[in-house]
Amino acid sequence: MCGIIGYIGNKGNCINTLVDGLSVLEYRGYDSAGIAYCDKEHIKIIKQSGSVSNLKKMIDYNIKSNIGIGHTRWATHGKANKTNSHPHKVGKFTIVHNGIVENYNELKRMLIDEGYIFISDTDTEVACALIDYLYKKKGNVLDSINEANTLMLGGYAMAIICDDYLDTLYALKNKCPLIIGVDKDEKYISSDAYAILDKTNKNIELNDGDYAMINLNKVKVFNSGIEKQVNIKKFKYKMDSIDKKGYEHYMLKEIHEQPEVFKKTVGPYVNTTIDRLLEKMPNFDKYEKIRIIACGSATHAALVGKQMIESYANIKTDVEIASEFRYSKPFLQKNELVIVISQSGETADTLEALKLAKQNGNDTLGIINAKGSSIAKEANLLLYTEAGKEIAVATTKAYSAQVAMLSLIALNISTKKGLISNQELVEILEDIKVLPVYMEELLDRKNEYLEIAKSLACHNDIFFIGRKVDYALCMEGSLKLKEISYLHSEAYAAGELKHGTISLIDKDTPVIGIVTDNNVALKTISNIEEVKSRGANVIYITNRCSEENDNFYDIKIRIPKVHNLLSPLLTVIPLQMIAYYIAKIRNCNIDKPKNLAKSVTVE
Ligand code: F6R
Repeated sequence: MCGIIGYIGNKGNCINTLVDGLSVLEYRGYDSAGIAYCDKEHIKIIKQSGSVSNLKKMIDYNIKSNIGIGHTRWATHGKANKTNSHPHKVGKFTIVHNGIVENYNELKRMLIDEGYIFISDTDTEVACALIDYLYKKKGNVLDSINEANTLMLGGYAMAIICDDYLDTLYALKNKCPLIIGVDKDEKYISSDAYAILDKTNKNIELNDGDYAMINLNKVKVFNSGIEKQVNIKKFKYKMDSIDKKGYEHYMLKEIHEQPEVFKKTVGPYVNTTIDRLLEKMPNFDKYEKIRIIACGSATHAALVGKQMIESYANIKTDVEIASEFRYSKPFLQKNELVIVISQSGETADTLEALKLAKQNGNDTLGIINAKGSSIAKEANLLLYTEAGKEIAVATTKAYSAQVAMLSLIALNISTKKGLISNQELVEILEDIKVLPVYMEELLDRKNEYLEIAKSLACHNDIFFIGRKVDYALCMEGSLKLKEISYLHSEAYAAGELKHGTISLIDKDTPVIGIVTDNNVALKTISNIEEVKSRGANVIYITNRCSEENDNFYDIKIRIPKVHNLLSPLLTVIPLQMIAYYIAKIRNCNIDKPKNLAKSVTVE
């Protein structure tokens, strides 16, 4: 969370470069934005609460400057106001920061005793004062940054300018992403590659604990006081289009991209046969257990994957939330494969969970969307989803690409183990071919979703119920709705409702019941009947053609029937669309919901 950018060059391009970079990095937080640049031998800071567009209005683009840093914030310490916005300046140092300095209170007390006065509530101002304090004692910027790094706890990435060296940028990285972009006459610091991809394709990767000194002509990288050899690499990927392509919101565009994303993700492994699936995927033979670790929607994809892998590949699969796994006894077994799933590839908890699994000696497989991201670099084995750049904060196409990849893993293992008949395989291959068409069909039923959204938008609570894979889908549907429409909802295992929560069901309480798994269909339908008989307004999402009795629901959304391995990729579409239209009716900021950020790099 928080995006940071830094620039040094000799063409006077600083302001535009910083603002362009911040516009790309805004997905990392949009509580405030700010820049600091050198103007006539002095550092000037412009910052404002709210999005980068607020900042843009305050900037004089005629100013020529050769060095500067910029920040887009997801607030961690203190309100999202101007005072807490970055950059922060204390003494001779100006800093932008992503991450959390966990022991900032202790450091702040020490610095107050040394005479420092703080005006913001942030940990960043403390980091800035700490480096300034150390610099007064040591008289050397790099030594001060190095010592500050040993004194600070937590994860952080920083871009730093010192008043005494206005021809130099400094950078520090510890457990938060940071790269240095390199061109002949210009250098960059950035939280991600995308903010500088249109400027240069050469970069230097920093490791945890690295700090750097960046001049126009050279970049020096250090760790613990020792200079390291600098390796300049080339980005292997290009900037994806970030055009809305005529859609009102990125989220709507991304929902509609799912048929293409499915083809791109599955295509390299499956065409008319699954030979390539067997050749190109890692060999799963030696694993007796699978643990999938992720956060948020990626966990929901994992829960779908668990059902697929257990049902079709017959391997016990557990799913854990990364932030819980990190601080629990792992109980990882020797022949257990750890799969981490992440769209951004930067989620702090998922990354740390992956490192723990590696330290434990387990093989790790990353299912990652962002190429070259931290998790992609860290995992032993890697499968990229091909969702392309996802801009809307709420994930849609990346989620379904994760589900598709997990289905492929289940298919791979079950085929190798001979658990799937030829006839079923032919059926699956046929369904893989038609799935994008079915997805398009579902996407075209806009009016159906809009009518449902109109009937639900004024409610305060919505319940989602389902069993097994449908329960996993309920979780995703409920999260999508909550995060973009701010309407409270709960997802329940259908059989669990009567153990407490059914007391919340009243006349007209909306309940979305999902039934796509035939093995448990009648059980779930009974549970839906139970809420219906207590007055619930039931929206029934199913792939079943007809029921013996039709009076347990008010509205039915019928989705095409495909093989169970693929069915979740259809079921999720109405859930995404209903959430989208409810958020639209409620006038919410759909692409940038309040309090959220796209990339969660703090724990
Ligand atoms: C919800 C959403 C989040 C992410 C979660 C993990 O719509 O997008 O719940 O799924 O923050 O992010 P990644 O996949 O980047 O690790």
